Amino acid sequence: MIKKIAIANWKENPGTETRAARLFRAAMAAAGRAKNVAVAVCPPFVYLERLSEMLRRQPKARLALGSQDVFWEEKGPYTSEIGPAMLRRLGARFAIIGHSERRRWLHETDAMVNKKLKLALADGLGVVLCVGEPASVRRKGIAAAKNYVGSQLRKDLSGLRKPKSGIRGLIVAYEPIWAVGTGNCDNPEDAREMSIFIRNILKSKFSFADPVVLYGGSVDSDSIGGYVKYKEIGGALVGGASLKSGEFGKITNKISKANVQP
Ligand code: PGA
Repeated sequence: MIKKIAIANWKENPGTETRAARLFRAAMAAAGRAKNVAVAVCPPFVYLERLSEMLRRQPKARLALGSQDVFWEEKGPYTSEIGPAMLRRLGARFAIIGHSERRRWLHETDAMVNKKLKLALADGLGVVLCVGEPASVRRKGIAAAKNYVGSQLRKDLSGLRKPKSGIRGLIVAYEPIWAVGTGNCDNPEDAREMSIFIRNILKSKFSFADPVVLYGGSVDSDSIGGYVKYKEIGGALVGGASLKSGEFGKITNKISKANVQP
């Protein structure tokens, strides 16, 4: 049975290291309880060292750490940027790349995403690539959304050859922009249709053997079951709900109990 994946994206939260450690302890416990779910947490950079130290002290913890971004150069005169080897040394196994909030607020382009993704993978840092269409596109229908996301994928993955799938290789998260942080989830059938579409592109254009596509956008413990019951949806990228005490644990629990349709 293929494991489902639950990744917490804490974004610019929580405000203190003490709260980060508390949240992380709860996530470690949830990961320990959730059978058949690979659980990961992506905290702000500044908490990585402390949290990976907590992981080292719990060698049996079944949890991975990731970062929320990475730069496209290993080192050099790039003020504030952090390269993949630095992140690996801090305990990150993968990086989220191309999140819609970075594309929006930091004006990250597909060309930048492509450079980041290539260096990270070459360096042994896994990648969770985020793609998704804005509301103005989705209003035109799902065909328009496919067009938009297809073009994003072709640009973001340009030049990539036979990448590995999974958390140590490459995973794609389908996150419609209008659903991120709005409380307005995509409906599971449409998310499934988009996942199938993305998986087909990954197989046909980029030679992925068994691509993994996650759904993200206002997922919580009430809605998660509707997505992960589909075999084409490999799990979820969870933002806001991963910061609420107990809620991320409920989500991982529901994923582990999901009745996946054959
Ligand atoms: P959300 O965020 O769950 O708060 O919508 C998801 C994400 O941005 O990855």
